[in-house]
Amino acid sequence: MNRLLIKNIRTLAGIVPADTLLLRGEQMGSAEQIDGAWLLAEDGVIVGFGPMETCPEVADEVVDAVGRVVFPAFCDSHSHIVYAGSREGEFRDKIAGMTYQEVAARGGGILNSADRLHEASEEELFEAAYHRAWRMIRTGAATLEIKSGYGLTTEDELKMLRVVARLQRELPATVKATFLGAHAVGRAFAGRQSDYVDHVCEQMLPAVAEQGVAEFVDVFCDSGFFTPEETARILECGARYGLRPKIHANELASSGGVQVGIRYGALSVDHLEEANEQDVADLAASATIPTVLPGASFFSNLPFAPARKMIDAGLPVAIASDCNPGSSPSGNMAFLWSLACIKMRLTPEEALSALTINGAAALGLSADRGAISVGRRADLVISKPVPSLAYIPYSFGEELVESVIINGKMV
Ligand code: NIG
Ligand code: FE
Repeated sequence: MNRLLIKNIRTLAGIVPADTLLLRGEQMGSAEQIDGAWLLAEDGVIVGFGPMETCPEVADEVVDAVGRVVFPAFCDSHSHIVYAGSREGEFRDKIAGMTYQEVAARGGGILNSADRLHEASEEELFEAAYHRAWRMIRTGAATLEIKSGYGLTTEDELKMLRVVARLQRELPATVKATFLGAHAVGRAFAGRQSDYVDHVCEQMLPAVAEQGVAEFVDVFCDSGFFTPEETARILECGARYGLRPKIHANELASSGGVQVGIRYGALSVDHLEEANEQDVADLAASATIPTVLPGASFFSNLPFAPARKMIDAGLPVAIASDCNPGSSPSGNMAFLWSLACIKMRLTPEEALSALTINGAAALGLSADRGAISVGRRADLVISKPVPSLAYIPYSFGEELVESVIINGKMV
């Protein structure tokens, strides 16, 4: 048995009852905190915590966290980190005034990444993604979802998902795989979008299911990409193979993505920059988690999703990085914490709930991740010395993660 004791913690944040699976509305700002705390983990599981007066004495490893804040490691429920090359050429085009849709319409965007991915070997893709994943882990993430979607042929989608499977085996973080064949229409199907959707349903999905390399199915349901009807076809087909939907919706327009996601029991609908009042009301009447991606709004100069309104309407908002080469090339969750506070007007505590327990819930993992409670996994961040929890999002861009603990071990 390995016992890890963290003591003298300035503030232990993100404490919830063991049976709490997500925090909605005003609960998001009221997870418990203890100032002057200890936490004990045994074989990777939190077995106790409390104020320093009650600190136990026996442990195999003791970490003195004096002056530091300890909080649950981030759960990044939406990323696209398997890709080849980078797209700073398009970055220049966007600075010069082109929109995301204009770049895409010119054959750039997702198709640009698909061309490069096709040329890259599986080993090269793995190396690049492994490096990116470690950067995300070092900045505080212990759980990552990774999507396919730069293959756009059966063979290349499977290549991406095999890379994700290898990341699952070789990283200390928990990794979940999502099939996103309908990210854009593959070049071989140019001008034949409906045929491509058939191809996704009839060729790609059965192959992905047969190899058992994805747990979720995603569609880029948005203006200029896939329609709600096409999305419905793909989700219906995914359901036959037991793949739960988590979809891209309402990034570019309020175009029915939220409603089709809800109709097919999506675990989450993600982006929501253009979500309107009806979308918020429909989400409030559903079990689907709204996941907002402030990095995409920041990098792509889009409106920020109305997360404040969602929380005020009682919703359990999650925040994820969307880390990808086109619209959000960063997986730094602490920076998103700042963005959520500054641009979306979430309190530091609300944003932390969105980055941790609600992110875990958006992957179906919150029974044992994403919060401090007895019985949950010891996936934790220890900050550098800081005056308070709020100092972390306040001091934006400062690297304040000192150590990351996954499954009770320093990584
Ligand atoms: O989530 N919006 C769709 N897909 C990605 C961007 C992909 C890309 O441009 O490479 C996103 O923002
Ligand atoms: Fe995305």
